[in-house]
Amino acid sequence: MVCTDIHSALAPVLARYDQDQVVFVVDENLRSSSVLSRYFIGISSVLLPVHESQKSLETVQRIWDFFFESNLTRRGLVVAVGGGVLTDLAGFAAATYKRGVDCLNIPTTLLAMTDASTGGKTGFNYRGLKNSIGLFAPPVETLIWPGWLETLPPQQFLSGYAEMLKTGLVDVRRDDVRCTKGDGLWEALLRYDLDTTPLDALAPLIEACVAAKERVVAADPHEDGLRKVLNFGHTFGHALEEIQMVNGKSSNGKWLHGYAVLYGMIAELYLSVVKLGCPKEPLQQLTRLMTDYYGRPQCKCSDRAALIALMQQDKKNERAAQINCTLIRSVGDPVINQVITPAEAGEALDYLFSL
Ligand SMILES: NC(=O)c1ccc[n+]([C@@H]2O[C@H](COP(=O)([O-])OP(=O)(O)OC[C@H]3O[C@@H](n4cnc5c(N)ncnc54)[C@H](O)[C@@H]3O)[C@@H](O)[C@H]2O)c1
Repeated sequence: MVCTDIHSALAPVLARYDQDQVVFVVDENLRSSSVLSRYFIGISSVLLPVHESQKSLETVQRIWDFFFESNLTRRGLVVAVGGGVLTDLAGFAAATYKRGVDCLNIPTTLLAMTDASTGGKTGFNYRGLKNSIGLFAPPVETLIWPGWLETLPPQQFLSGYAEMLKTGLVDVRRDDVRCTKGDGLWEALLRYDLDTTPLDALAPLIEACVAAKERVVAADPHEDGLRKVLNFGHTFGHALEEIQMVNGKSSNGKWLHGYAVLYGMIAELYLSVVKLGCPKEPLQQLTRLMTDYYGRPQCKCSDRAALIALMQQDKKNERAAQINCTLIRSVGDPVINQVITPAEAGEALDYLFSL
């Protein structure tokens, strides 16, 4: 739920639990947040450094240790406050601790608000593969307060915006966007001017993205079919993210999750045009956003074969070594389970790197 006051939204949830059975797992970058400071007095809290490289078993163990040291029982509540890395980790730790305790998500990045904290996917990276260990464990609730975005660095904002654009491209209910009339989420997102439109105007778009994801997740909670539409851009996107882990590069700057997904969407829109006859307009619109705001992907030609190999190992594949993608026939008309040959994947990468 999107709220205008985080404290009044949080109070009734906390009231359902014994005070000594509530623990906070908080992104260390929010340490000085005046919004949170009141909860650091009297409630058990752990502050964690958050970075994709810390999305690991070691960090999960640290959270489990904190739960044990706080004498958390199965009747307790874990409040996860942070970006997608933190909510994925805390959600996994909560779901596996003593066979599961409740977890409340308070996402503080745009990406976590619109994507990571809804839908119940939790987990961590293992053996250089993104989110390769994890489980579905929906939070008891997700409280979205757009006020957190005031302090979010611009690149993090853009990273989240890329996932919103993805939702706009695959959203099948084009008549259900409260912020606009007559057209869909994609058009509303294109109209949002990233340079000048105030943050307040984003709240209805955040709500629309969350509602779109919730509809899909409700119809297919365990990704047996329909939910795969949300993976649009992620077959290429995850491989682009993983190549950094393999190459030992940091995920600062242009290599944030949403940036990788945006580049992945361009590759997958290219395949959508070539294989499914999708109109070129969304590809052109997204490419324009890339050049205006995100910059081109910095990849070496030598990464091409490694990227294809990574896509062949993707956990989303139905069969070993077969590349599986969601493509779109047009905006709002996604098609899941599209098998891509290594040659087609290479062609899409060549297109992306030629831009
Ligand atoms: N579970 C899912 O369904 C799902 C969906 C999409 C992405 N994800 C995961 O989400 C992760 C990416 O999440 P993210 O983009 O939020 O990154 P993140 O969690 O790394 O947060 C980005 C940075 O912003 C900082 N930060 C957080 N809130 C802030 C605020 N309000 N002000 C200033 N700084 C703040 C963090 O400390 C961090 O340095 C990836 O690991 C991805 O796999 C999960």
